[in-house]
Amino acid sequence: MTAGAMTEIRSVDFRSVGQLSHLTFPAFARAFSEAPRQGSQLRLHRLAAFERDNPIGLALATMDAQSGHAELRSLVVDRPHRRMGTARALLQEMETRLRDDGGKLVSTLFSDQLPGAAGFAALLADAGWSGPKPERIRILGRVGKTGDVFRDRERLVQRALRDGLTIVSWRDHDGDPRSLILREIEAGRAPDWTQIGLMADTVDPDFSMILTDGTGEVVGWVICQFHAEVRRWGFPVGWIHEEHQKRGWLLVAYAQGAHFIESRHGPDAVAVFESSSGLPMMWRVLEHRFAPHADRADLMMISKKSL
Ligand SMILES: CC(C)(COP(=O)(O)OP(=O)(O)OC[C@H]1O[C@@H](n2cnc3c(N)ncnc32)[C@H](O)[C@@H]1OP(=O)(O)O)[C@@H](O)C(=O)NCCC(=O)NCCS
Repeated sequence: MTAGAMTEIRSVDFRSVGQLSHLTFPAFARAFSEAPRQGSQLRLHRLAAFERDNPIGLALATMDAQSGHAELRSLVVDRPHRRMGTARALLQEMETRLRDDGGKLVSTLFSDQLPGAAGFAALLADAGWSGPKPERIRILGRVGKTGDVFRDRERLVQRALRDGLTIVSWRDHDGDPRSLILREIEAGRAPDWTQIGLMADTVDPDFSMILTDGTGEVVGWVICQFHAEVRRWGFPVGWIHEEHQKRGWLLVAYAQGAHFIESRHGPDAVAVFESSSGLPMMWRVLEHRFAPHADRADLMMISKKSL
């Protein structure tokens, strides 16, 4: 079926997003209601579907003007109006607008636990996007339970410290961890995804860490963000240089992170650990070691389309 003759797709501006917030998630409603920032290379696209001026669907996307990489952040159609082609029409129009704005590639990330995940995947396939595949794994649990995950924590930590691992929080680091990380990525010593969330003002300097080896060389880092609205500590990035992956150093850093959060905020503080498909070893550890003790575990699926 195609979107009804009464359905109109229109671009909406940031001031209207507040009235459409029932058609997206709170974090996106907030981010897309902000006035455009002068000189920002991230452009925001908002499209709504209306039936007789009544909003029934909303699509939100961002576009990095420099790389031409666009991301579909949210696509929702009001329940009574589903299966009438509205999402298909919104998606098609969004792709056209992104292409006209210089977009080369569009991707989307969504949780496999999202109630509408199967329907969304079917919609993407219908619109010619690549089949969704696992991109990130997320494990959510109370830090007090990490004792169950790391029964051998003390032994692991002691061995890593003997092997020369040093873990320094960003707060205690005597340089500027953000510039240091960007320099490492620039020099090709670390992959690009290791800067996810680096610039966010939610970064928690007490639980974000820089890892060095016995010679003082930087071999990895952990980025920790505090999300005040849900009182959660997220670990979107934990990365360690390939040659140290087998030594379990990253696991030790996570164990220490959880331990520090527990000492400061108690055993019920909630942490979210993540790994990307670029770190298969860490992925397996989270899947096999953490997930059985987690309150929630999900996979972030990625789907893409060339514009
Ligand atoms: C996913 C969603 C946006 C689809 O909206 P919609 O307007 O109902 O989708 P359309 O009618 O345009 O569907 C177009 C095609 O996509 C596929 N599709 C859409 N929903 C589907 C479902 N629930 N099950 C199977 N296929 C589905 C079908 O191929 C459909 O064509 P058809 O109806 O001719 O078979 C809607 O179900 C929704 O808002 N879900 C909740 C929010 C969500 O999960 N959003 C995605 C992540 S942000």
